[in-house]
Amino acid sequence: MTVIVTGGAGFIGSNFVFHMLKAHPDYRIVCVDKLTYAGNLSTLESVMNNPKFRFCKTDICDREAINKLFEEEKPDIVVNFAAESHVDRSIENPEIFLQTNILGTSVMMDASRKYGVKRYHQVSTDEVYGDLPLDRPDLFFTESTHIHTSSPYSSSKAGADLLVLAYYRTYGLPVTISRCSNNYGPYHFPEKLIPLMIANALADKPLPVYGKGENVRDWLYVEDHCKAIDLIIHNGRVGEVYNVGGHNEMKNIDIVRLICKELGKPESLITYVTDRKGHDMRYAIDPTKIHNELGWLPETKFADGIKKTIKWYLDNEKWWKDIISGEYQNYYTKMYGNR
Ligand code: NAD
Ligand code: TYD
Repeated sequence: MTVIVTGGAGFIGSNFVFHMLKAHPDYRIVCVDKLTYAGNLSTLESVMNNPKFRFCKTDICDREAINKLFEEEKPDIVVNFAAESHVDRSIENPEIFLQTNILGTSVMMDASRKYGVKRYHQVSTDEVYGDLPLDRPDLFFTESTHIHTSSPYSSSKAGADLLVLAYYRTYGLPVTISRCSNNYGPYHFPEKLIPLMIANALADKPLPVYGKGENVRDWLYVEDHCKAIDLIIHNGRVGEVYNVGGHNEMKNIDIVRLICKELGKPESLITYVTDRKGHDMRYAIDPTKIHNELGWLPETKFADGIKKTIKWYLDNEKWWKDIISGEYQNYYTKMYGNR
């Protein structure tokens, strides 16, 4: 089996590469990544010399290069993680989100059709469902919840999902889609909530909480997401969408407080800043379908996962300090300087 993994130098993609090399040592894993600001070759250092692994620095929008790669590798499975993934950046500059997330997806699917892959899997997000009100804890996203997006990021992911389902119906491309809740764990890029708060707290810098910090996210340890995708690409039904989430809803402010506590830092570092435009209130996944059909259940409890994650950031300071010392400083000043 040869599996093409796009976006494998990013957060979830790299964890998936590690998972696949371990879980399926006989598979060949080919990582395709453009190495944008969010992609890091150092993340893949430990597998670079693995004979079952190949890294290709390629843009998924580059049709010619993608076709050439498919010609060479003749992949059985394609898993598309590559995306612009940060909501705040999408609010500043939507265009690249449409380019990579929608057009890039179509390029990957065209190549998958042309070379007859057995499975094309699209890694999507619960954000395509929009948000739920805080005062209705009885409501959850199911696979039949309407698409109702809020940000340019989620709209671009929803556009890609619709295209994936259209390729299934129109061309019979054997597709599956997973829509996962917020992930956390090793190699999470420091612009996102949990690693940003860990890095700032360690430096005794202000912890910028948007609005009142009451927004709720449903957090899943990244390895559990990787295991869900592994199950879907092997046993999931073609043409189907699977929601993936851990029934682990937390308010942003409670996460930030927990990080302060774990790191022994004072809550006085918490600074409430101007809210994100169009900020989704609550995400909450109903994972009944993937549980009933594929037997998937999250294995890592948040209380353990957050400890493991904090330990990882403490043990791997070089990884994230290298990132935040470069161009990231300009991003941080622009986003948080006058907030
Ligand atoms: P990330 O930003 O950490 O990584 C994205 C990777 O894609 C990077 O390595 C980047 O270099 C690469 N990339 C970007 N544009 C590319 C292009 N044009 N061609 C090739 N490579 C390109 O993102 P992530 O958090 O790991 O998310 C991965 C996927 O999972 C995304 O599709 C995202 O929408 C989805 N997702 C993320 C979460 C989450 O909590 N992070 C939750 C659900 C779904
Ligand atoms: P984020 O990690 O960007 O993921 P998403 O927007 O995809 O859910 O943000 C998670 C939550 O944390 C979201 O409600 C926005 C909030 N947030 C802050 O309060 N401060 C921050 O500095 C960041 C990055 C996010």
